[in-house]
Amino acid sequence: MCGIVGYTGYENAEGIIVDGLKRLEYRGYDSAGIAVLTDKGLQVRKKKGKIENLEKLLMEESLTGTTGIGHTRWATHGSPSDVNAHPHLSMDGKIAVVHNGIVENYVELREDLAKNHGIKFITETDTEVIAQLISVKYGENGGNLENAVRDTVKMLKGAYAICVIAADTPDKIVAYRKDAPLIVGLGKKRNFIASDIPAVLKYVKEILLVENQELVICTPEQVKIYNSEGREVSREPMFIKWSIEDAEKGGYEHFTIKEIYEQPKAIKETLMRRIDDEGHVKLDGIYISAEELNSYDKIYIVACGTAYHAGLVGKYAIEKMARIPVEVDIASEFRYRDPLVDEHTLFIAISQSGETLDTLEALREAKSKGARVLSVVNVVGSSVARESDDVFYTWAGPEIAVASTKAYTTQLICMYLIALYFGRLRGTITDEYYSFVLKELEAIPEKIEKVLEKAPEIENLARHLYNRTQVFFIGRGLDSAVSYEGSLKLKEISYINSFAIAAGELKHGTIALMEPETIVIALATQDALFDKMYSNIVEIKARFAHVVAIAKEGNTKIEAESSEVIYIPQCADEVTPLLSVVPLQLFAYYVAREKGEDIDKPRNLAKSVTVE
Ligand code: M6R
Repeated sequence: MCGIVGYTGYENAEGIIVDGLKRLEYRGYDSAGIAVLTDKGLQVRKKKGKIENLEKLLMEESLTGTTGIGHTRWATHGSPSDVNAHPHLSMDGKIAVVHNGIVENYVELREDLAKNHGIKFITETDTEVIAQLISVKYGENGGNLENAVRDTVKMLKGAYAICVIAADTPDKIVAYRKDAPLIVGLGKKRNFIASDIPAVLKYVKEILLVENQELVICTPEQVKIYNSEGREVSREPMFIKWSIEDAEKGGYEHFTIKEIYEQPKAIKETLMRRIDDEGHVKLDGIYISAEELNSYDKIYIVACGTAYHAGLVGKYAIEKMARIPVEVDIASEFRYRDPLVDEHTLFIAISQSGETLDTLEALREAKSKGARVLSVVNVVGSSVARESDDVFYTWAGPEIAVASTKAYTTQLICMYLIALYFGRLRGTITDEYYSFVLKELEAIPEKIEKVLEKAPEIENLARHLYNRTQVFFIGRGLDSAVSYEGSLKLKEISYINSFAIAAGELKHGTIALMEPETIVIALATQDALFDKMYSNIVEIKARFAHVVAIAKEGNTKIEAESSEVIYIPQCADEVTPLLSVVPLQLFAYYVAREKGEDIDKPRNLAKSVTVE
């Protein structure tokens, strides 16, 4: 959600910044812009829509200069438009700012700037306030840009990251972070600022993570970081091993399908690091004693969207294996509910990006009430990871498509590993059961390969069903948790109105909606609940709806009542979500492709949701 790129060096900045912005497209945006310090002062080019629109403009009116900032905007304050796109200039044209996040008190600041400094605003954004305020402070500080930024951020409320350049301060970018991601890319005679690592990976491998309330001064020759007390801090750079190719499509038509196919590899990676030579789960050096674990009277799993759906499976696994009560909550609900959390609560946050503001705030709420916080995160060094007591990385690799796929299945693996670890520690599972589930997990990558071989069958199904307007996903037990994920996947990338419900609830209302045009995707993978599920399918069939069943190989009885059956390989009931979600991901993908939608970047959505 919004992307920042800043560059200062000795090469022309324009192409480097636009390239960086393209690497951030996955975050979601609706306009893009760039400001470069040229020999005619600060020059800005910005355009509503895709980055190609900006590139066309730059072909007509290119920018020459070696320091600049760029931005992809996802509109919050003011509609997506050329004028509201970033960068924003101060009224005198001498300060340019790009900004991620929200300035909550921008109305008061705007009124004050207009009344007391005669500022005339030309956009509807909160960001323009920052540019104008820095300009005022720049004057008050005798042209010292870093002090102007320091004074400005003291007046801003909200969560934000900003990147600033000034006409009279050549070869310098000043940036500041408060609750929104920011990184520095360290190069030779060139340095970068960005909101995310892929933006700079083509040029540098050494990254500095900017912490909260830190100010960064970046010139071609050096980078200095100052903490909130104004003291310079020294920090070891991280060396990024993954290549730009890892984050690119590698021959697939879309990132979404590439990432669906990457699941066996991603799961192997997640598992490999966590099972020791004796076949025991290790939690990345996270130390929780049996005594401490027994002191928890409940576990809260809190997350948003797909990560929340992974939490639903986590609840099932932890309660079954470790026998500790688990509550799963949506982060945006949890934080405003004065939740019952104390030092006897273990709080687990799940987040792919580690930057989802609702999850981050929920984590802070839990921490402030004394809970120990363990996070399950994909992006290394992200805010959620940094603010947690313990981090369990999913190691899915970069997930670029907005729709989460491999992050979900690796989150599931993490939840199973945590459940097994806790179960063994508490003595609530036998050694045989522990080894049995581990073996089932180790067999998953190969079994997912088998499900992926069914892609042509699912593509064909999508070709026949893509123009339906109503799809239901139903299941019982773990199948109901997966139904929610299947439904979200379909609606977010294909824009078909879909709805997930526990199958037992159908007859309490929703069955009224069943008619011949309705598609019902019925998950029936739980042996223990198969007969109950079978009865639900019979009831639906009696209303002439089109039933697509997902079942384990061998359960052919279901064919009599279903229009189609997609089989997944035999496995223990406990681990079916890892397999049954794959046909649902493929179905959503092929339906969206059939409809010609923008699959990797669905409308109105952003990869990481850094606003409330
Ligand atoms: O980065 P996070 O896992 O915290 O993101 C949470 C949700 O925004 C995310 O899962 C969203 O629902 C995806 N678009 C689903 O595919």
